[in-house]
Amino acid sequence: MAVILIVDDDAGLRTSFAKLLDMEGHQAITAASGEEGVERQAKDHPDLVVMDVRMQGMTGIEALARMKAQDPATPVIIMTAFGTTATAIEAVNKGAFDYILKPFDIPEMLGLIAQALDASRLAKGARKHATPAAGAQVSLVGQSRAMREVYKQLGRVAATDATVLVQGESGTGKELAARALWSYSGRKDRPLVVVNCVAIPESLLESELFGHEKGAFTGANHRRAGKIEQAQGGTVFLDEIGDMPLPVQAKLLRLLQEKQIERLGGKGPTAVDVRIIAATNRDLEAAMAEGRFREDLYYRLQVVRIVLPPLRERKEDLPQLAAHFLALHSKAMSVSDPGITAEGLAALADHDWPGNVRELSNVLQKTLIFSRGLAIGAPDVRAAIAGRAAEPLPDAGEALGEYARLAVAAGGPDLFNQVTDRFAAVVLAEALRVTGGNRSHAAKLLGLSRPTLLAKMERLGLTVAAQIKIGDALS
Ligand SMILES: Nc1ncnc2c1ncn2[C@@H]1O[C@H](COP(=O)(O)OP(=O)(O)OP(=O)(O)O)[C@@H](O)[C@H]1O
Ligand SMILES: [Mg+2]
Repeated sequence: MAVILIVDDDAGLRTSFAKLLDMEGHQAITAASGEEGVERQAKDHPDLVVMDVRMQGMTGIEALARMKAQDPATPVIIMTAFGTTATAIEAVNKGAFDYILKPFDIPEMLGLIAQALDASRLAKGARKHATPAAGAQVSLVGQSRAMREVYKQLGRVAATDATVLVQGESGTGKELAARALWSYSGRKDRPLVVVNCVAIPESLLESELFGHEKGAFTGANHRRAGKIEQAQGGTVFLDEIGDMPLPVQAKLLRLLQEKQIERLGGKGPTAVDVRIIAATNRDLEAAMAEGRFREDLYYRLQVVRIVLPPLRERKEDLPQLAAHFLALHSKAMSVSDPGITAEGLAALADHDWPGNVRELSNVLQKTLIFSRGLAIGAPDVRAAIAGRAAEPLPDAGEALGEYARLAVAAGGPDLFNQVTDRFAAVVLAEALRVTGGNRSHAAKLLGLSRPTLLAKMERLGLTVAAQIKIGDALS
C-alpha cells in the first residue's frame, strides 16, 4: 500500500484515477492545482506524485521543481498530452521519474507506478514502507539523473527472476546494487550467496561453486554441496565474473540454460533453482575478443545489464553522499557528526574519484579522524585525498638507515625487538599527537583495532601525555 497524490485540474480524471488506485490497494489523495499539490506534498508526504503538466495557474513543471526542493526523494510521474514531448523531456530533466502520455493506458500507468515505488524504496534505503530482508542494509545514496536511471532499472528487474549483469568501475556500488536486487526480489527470504571469483583459487572455484562427490579429487573426503546448491531457491551473486576460468564458465552456462549442475566426480545432474546476479569491473567485450570469456555466456548474462556510473560523472551526488558517509563513519567512531563546509564540498568536487564511492568513503573517514569536531573544510579534504596519493608509504630515507647502521654496529641481546619497539613507539606517539590524543582515532589512522593499540601502548609504556620526540626514542 502506498499513498499516491494525483494532481490534475480535471475533476473527472481525479475521481476515476483515484478509484483505480483504490482498487489496486493504494491510498489516493488528490489536488486540483499545482499550488494545492505542493501543499499536499508538504503536509501528507505521499510516496509518489502523478501530476498533469498543463494546469491553470502553476504549471506541472513549476510544481515539480517545488516538490523536488521539498523532498527530492519523492518520485513524480508527469502526464503530458500527445505532441508535447519537449515538455516531457524538460520534466524528466527537472527530476521527474518519468512521463506518460494522456490519455494513458491503464496497465502502462500501473506498471510505471510500480516501478516508481520500487525505485523510490531503493533510493530511500527502504526507510518507510518497504519490507526488505532482515539485516539487509541496502541504501544507495544519490539522486543524480544517472542514479535515478539505475534505480529505475533495479526496480524494473528486482522482482523478476532474470539473470542480471552489473557493470561499473571499482567502487561504484556493484555489490550494493546486487544486494538491492536481492532484497527487493521474491527470493529475499532465501539466501543470498556471494562468491568472489578472484578471491578463490582457480583450482578450487569449480568445486566451491558446484560441489563435489567424495573422492572426486585428492583431499575430497566427503561429499560436499557447492555454493549454488546451498543457495537453492535463493540468489547467487557471482562477483568479478570477468575472472572466472573458462571451464567454470562452461558449467555456469549449463546452469543458466538447463537449470542443472553436476558435482565434481558426480554421476548425474542435479536440478537447481537459483537466480544469478553477476558483477564485473572488467571489459567483458575485450575479454571475449581475447578468448578469455565465452561469447555464449556473455550473451546469456547481459540480457539485463545495469551499468553503474562512475562518481566523476555524477558529482551532483557528492553533497548527499558526503552527508551519508560522515553520518555513517562518525556513528561508527562514536563521535558527533561535524558536517562539511561549502568549501569542503567544493574540494570534493575538484577531485575525479578514480576509486569512486569507496574512495570517497575512505577520504571522509580520514577527514573525520583529523577534524576534532570542527566542520570538515577544504584543507581537511585535500589532505585526506593527498594521503591516498602518497601510498605506498614514502621511503624512510637516510635517517632511518643511519640509525639501523648504528644500532646493528652497537649490537646487543634482543637487538631486533628493541629497535622495532622503539620505532613502534615513535609511530604510535605521532599518531596520538595528530589526533589530539584520541585513541580511537589513532587506532583507525594506524589501521589497528582500538584494543590492539591500547595493548601496544601499554607494552611500550606509552601514555597519551607522553611527548616522545623522535630523537629521544631513537637514541
Ligand atoms: N550509491 C551509493 N550509496 C551509498 N554507498 C555506496 C554507494 N555506492 C557504493 N557505496 C559504498 O561504497 C563501497 C563500495 O561499494 P561496492 O563494494 O558495492 O563497490 P563495487 O562496485 O562492488 O566495487 P569493486 O569493483 O571494487 O568490488 C561500499 O562501502 C558501498 O557501501
Ligand atoms: Mg565489489
